[in-house]
Amino acid sequence: MRIPHVENYPSKVQLSRISHVYFEHADLEKFSEFAHDFGFVEAERRGDVIYFRGYGRDPYCYVAKKSADGKPKFGGGAFVAASEEEFNKAAKIPGASPPKPLEGPGGGQVITFARPNGTFMHVIYGQEDRQVDTKHIPTETHDHQGPFNTPFEKPRLARQKGQFQRYHPGPALIHKVGHYGYVCKEFDAEFDFYTSNFNLVPSDVLYHPQIHDMDVLAFIRLDLGKEYSDHHTFFMQRAPPEVEQTYVHHTSYEISDFDTQLLGHEWLAKKGWRAVWGVGRHVLGSQIFDYWADPSGFKIEHYADGDVVNVDIKTRRDVAGPISVWGPELPKDFGDDLTKEQRQ
Ligand SMILES: [Fe+2]
Repeated sequence: MRIPHVENYPSKVQLSRISHVYFEHADLEKFSEFAHDFGFVEAERRGDVIYFRGYGRDPYCYVAKKSADGKPKFGGGAFVAASEEEFNKAAKIPGASPPKPLEGPGGGQVITFARPNGTFMHVIYGQEDRQVDTKHIPTETHDHQGPFNTPFEKPRLARQKGQFQRYHPGPALIHKVGHYGYVCKEFDAEFDFYTSNFNLVPSDVLYHPQIHDMDVLAFIRLDLGKEYSDHHTFFMQRAPPEVEQTYVHHTSYEISDFDTQLLGHEWLAKKGWRAVWGVGRHVLGSQIFDYWADPSGFKIEHYADGDVVNVDIKTRRDVAGPISVWGPELPKDFGDDLTKEQRQ
């Protein structure tokens, strides 16, 4: 019930980042409406599939497909292999599908792992990146944003000549998919699959407040050695006994800053979408968070200002406690699967 010590070794498949996630929705048009309000950009539509992108290097970060049986489904996350050699290594892991062409803009190849618990994980390689100008952050809300003035330093005054903070209402534009995770019935077996086959290493592990030798949550990062990566790209929560089936807890997408977060929140509220929890500040990972429910009931998060860590930060283990420093009270159904109604 305790998570074993995990380290990355060159023999494991090295992944460099998360690229995209797969979903199926009963009403694709309704989801598309939500997606635009949430800050995605439609990259391409192919039949019953819409590829949504952010302004990052990935040609798309969210694949939305019309559900054939009308039930919402999560199809797992796709990770980019660090090299062709690593991709070929992934193909040799037991349970790997044969590599096949990756449909969608940018091309590439994909290997899929259909897990015994009905979830999926994908490894991709050879996809063509978008060209990104990292000097300029695209926005739907900021007319002008200079540096922040603090009590003792006024950098905006110093640079000035009409440098005011000016904004207007609009969606919080997405940069990329940052992380996702499961409430998992097969916690120990799945943890073993992800961490023994790939360079996935826990940044923080939390144990049950009453049962100290039972780990209940793992925030897992991609170990890139000395290079910094997001505090967590993936997470796993041990499902409480009443949960019948493993489900995705939420997927999360990066946005640029605090003003974008609040403007995006107001935009989604004004459009009548269902707020779940936020805006607040997380403890582990430090993200400024804001959770919403999409039309299928999947929880979906905007985050800004997340931590990055590297190999020098060892796995920490602590008791499970409050997950926010500030923000609204945690809703009672935050851990629940809100898609349940539509899956029955
Ligand atoms: Fe999150």
